[in-house]
Amino acid sequence: MNTLWQNQMRAKPESDMLEFTQSVGFDVELAEADIAGSQAHVMGLRKAKLISKDEQTDLVRALKEVGEEFARKTFEIQPTDEDIHTAIERRVTEKIGQTGAKLHTGRSRNDQVATAFRLWLKAKLNSIGHQILSFQQVLLERAREVEDAVLPGYTHLQRAQPVYLADHLLAHGWALSRDISRINDTISRMDVSPLGAGALSGSTLGLNPEYTASLLGFSETFENPMDAVSDRDFVVEALLVFALLGVHLSRIGEEIILWASDEVDFLDLPEEWSTGSSMLPQKKNPDIAELIRGKSGRLIGNLTGFLVTLKGLPLSYNRDLQEDKEPVFDSAKNIQLGLAALTGLMRECQFNLSTMSKAAQAPELSAIALAEYLVKAKGIPFRKAHEQVGILVHRWQANNLDPKELVAEELGADVATIIPAKPNGSVYASIKQFGSHLQQVKIS
Ligand code: ARG
Repeated sequence: MNTLWQNQMRAKPESDMLEFTQSVGFDVELAEADIAGSQAHVMGLRKAKLISKDEQTDLVRALKEVGEEFARKTFEIQPTDEDIHTAIERRVTEKIGQTGAKLHTGRSRNDQVATAFRLWLKAKLNSIGHQILSFQQVLLERAREVEDAVLPGYTHLQRAQPVYLADHLLAHGWALSRDISRINDTISRMDVSPLGAGALSGSTLGLNPEYTASLLGFSETFENPMDAVSDRDFVVEALLVFALLGVHLSRIGEEIILWASDEVDFLDLPEEWSTGSSMLPQKKNPDIAELIRGKSGRLIGNLTGFLVTLKGLPLSYNRDLQEDKEPVFDSAKNIQLGLAALTGLMRECQFNLSTMSKAAQAPELSAIALAEYLVKAKGIPFRKAHEQVGILVHRWQANNLDPKELVAEELGADVATIIPAKPNGSVYASIKQFGSHLQQVKIS
């Protein structure tokens, strides 16, 4: 068995060289996208009259059969298959002989691989967008279910003032909407077909890149063939989408871990989404949330690692670019698995509403509401009101006094009715707003 480029070499390739340079061990993931790209290329060859009608039929059929071999998992990779693209071409040629040898006319793996990867990534980003939307729907359901339940809101991880649990959940929901919007932006810039750019400078064969682009559902065609084969901005953008989404999920994970601790006790983990300990019989652990938090590290690493790969590359294609695939496959897979598990956990976990509400009633959390009442009802300048309330908080804490009584004595009975304060705003309005927002979300 020979490699596809062996003709100009007088020596056989060393096996260590083949093993080090191959990508078929991971880019088999692109098989379906590569076959779609090749089928469009065949149509383009026919349109340019570079193959006959019969040859077109044979090539399209052979490619379809190879696709079915992948679907049935019967496709056999050979040691000389450098990557999935050469493997598929080799198999097509095994099936239809000399006609198969026409498949690569006017094409290089450089435009071929960029085409397949863009197709694959567009579809993957779309399906991750839908997974995000399902998670947001669960956040919305939970918000609707807990209605006006309150908990302490935190800054600096110190209790600040009461907030609605629904608003807290939907705060994460809004961040995830920005991830969807970033997915749409990324897909729109990625939606450019490189097919026809050849190795770096197109070909002399009269192919029509607009035609194949439209067959493949791309909305645009490349402007400059050297840019088309060397551009990996779309990969960086996708890795950024995954990394930032991973960071958002990690922050949710961190809160779940914290809330499930005995110390905070705002949340009970659902057993079907928790793990036990091999030694400590009583344990129920938030491993999903911890792994979500932990995996954000590799998602960030995949982004920064690939940026470093790109930074010194001259035009146009360099084999370094083969390093674009593993980080993307890894990030996409972990995001998909993590989102599915976190969605399940969020759907089934139990919020300890009475613990939350008790914590939110601590009189210190009413301090800002007291100061704002003084501003509104008594016309006191805010800085002065801030000082007066601050002094009273210090007094009730230092002398173990009843806060309501002290406030009534010092500021008036009407002021004391503010304790315990309610959260600001209308939770029903914010739930409704997020609900109508989700109905309008579109994923490219
Ligand atoms: N497997 C390679 C990649 O992913 C395909 C391109 C190889 N091109 C070349 N000129 N050697 O980048």
